[in-house]
Amino acid sequence: MSASATPRPRRFLPTGALNGTIRVPGDKSISHRSIMLGALALGETRVTGLLEGEDVMSTAAAMRAMGAKIVKTDDGEWIINGVGVGGLLQPETALDMGNSGTSTRLLMGLVASHGITATFVGDASLSKRPMGRVIDPLSTMGADFTSVEGRLPLTMRGASPAVPITYRLPMASAQVKSAVLLAGLNTPGITTVIEPVPTRDHSERMLRGFGANLTVDVDEEGTRTIQIHGPAELKGQTIVVPGDPSSAAFFIVAALTVPGSDVLIENVGLNPTRAGIVTVLRQMGGSIEEVNPREVGGEPVADLRVRHSQLHGIEVDPEIVPSMVDEFPVLFVAAAQAKGRTVTTGLEELRVKESDRITVMRVALELAGANVTETEDGLIIDGTGGAPLPGTSGAHHVATHLDHRIAMSMAIAGLNSMNGVAIDDTSPIATSFPNFEALLASLVAR
Ligand code: S3P
Repeated sequence: MSASATPRPRRFLPTGALNGTIRVPGDKSISHRSIMLGALALGETRVTGLLEGEDVMSTAAAMRAMGAKIVKTDDGEWIINGVGVGGLLQPETALDMGNSGTSTRLLMGLVASHGITATFVGDASLSKRPMGRVIDPLSTMGADFTSVEGRLPLTMRGASPAVPITYRLPMASAQVKSAVLLAGLNTPGITTVIEPVPTRDHSERMLRGFGANLTVDVDEEGTRTIQIHGPAELKGQTIVVPGDPSSAAFFIVAALTVPGSDVLIENVGLNPTRAGIVTVLRQMGGSIEEVNPREVGGEPVADLRVRHSQLHGIEVDPEIVPSMVDEFPVLFVAAAQAKGRTVTTGLEELRVKESDRITVMRVALELAGANVTETEDGLIIDGTGGAPLPGTSGAHHVATHLDHRIAMSMAIAGLNSMNGVAIDDTSPIATSFPNFEALLASLVAR
């Protein structure tokens, strides 16, 4: 597959020990939601710590195109003046979602219950991803879609009024859950989502914080029933976005795998629906200490002190997958350097992310000299026991397929390798973690 317009290849070389203190950018999921809900609220919303990656900027551009006022102040705060639930305007041109599945699926939910028509377009990666998973419930609510096989480019006509539904999620997806709940905001009556397997709950937390009437009931099997009463009235809020655990994960694995490392990562969001990677790396023997646990913006946060550790392979419990669904590419890198075998299962959803992360990581790790077997729903990795991976040789480059997390994971694989790891294109990193390379450089001894 082709890379982005101007690919930026780079070889990530062995660095020696990583030492120092860093702070990762704001959480991507929370940043998207703060812009969307701020844009729908009445009055002013102020956001600090917003992730200024390309994906979140796609959300901001779309909400501006539908009537919200969104500006950044000189001191880095974002100020949003919303249109009020029901007040979205018809966008004059197609909404460009870039690489962002979260922007696309959540905004489709918002448009579904407004009487407007919107066209969604995206890059080559996003245009391959399945949208049927949101088209299905939103069609039942009354929205109308035109697309080829449920892919972008896609045009939708929202329903006004939309019809409330009860929807049982057929897959563990916070994006699908959120799309239906956001559609429920401007739908008269009670919209219900039944979630058999819990996924990230930022939408529920933030909808409540903005004043929506939203309830969550959990039965004895752990199934969650989430109900939102519409039409809702949202009021502008002040939001502090915690650091993104998915971004921190790259530096956690880097510090654990590069001998001699000792890194403090400040302000990491540790919402239990997101923190599975910390649990699994500890099960593998990783030294990750939580310092100064506190609450930021209604989310649990701590600083993480991470020290080099001899990791060992484990069988990862598939039940933990939803709480670390984006962290498997970098977990595979940790496993490739652990002692013994790591087995992962239940990862079907990884095949429909920005790339097919099972196959793409199997190919990438093999190119770097790791011992990997691909199964239908995961990877089996036999680690080196701590020895550096050979790395990529000659003109071979890892193909990142427009997937930021493949690029960053394989960058980390390069740090403790013999030859370094060459990557075809680092430009997708800017979708979620624009200062990744600068932070990495700041931890390397001069
Ligand atoms: C996200 C949900 C997850 C995750 C994505 C962000 C969200 O996607 O992979 O990076 O913000 O709701 P799925 O809902 O497809 O699992």
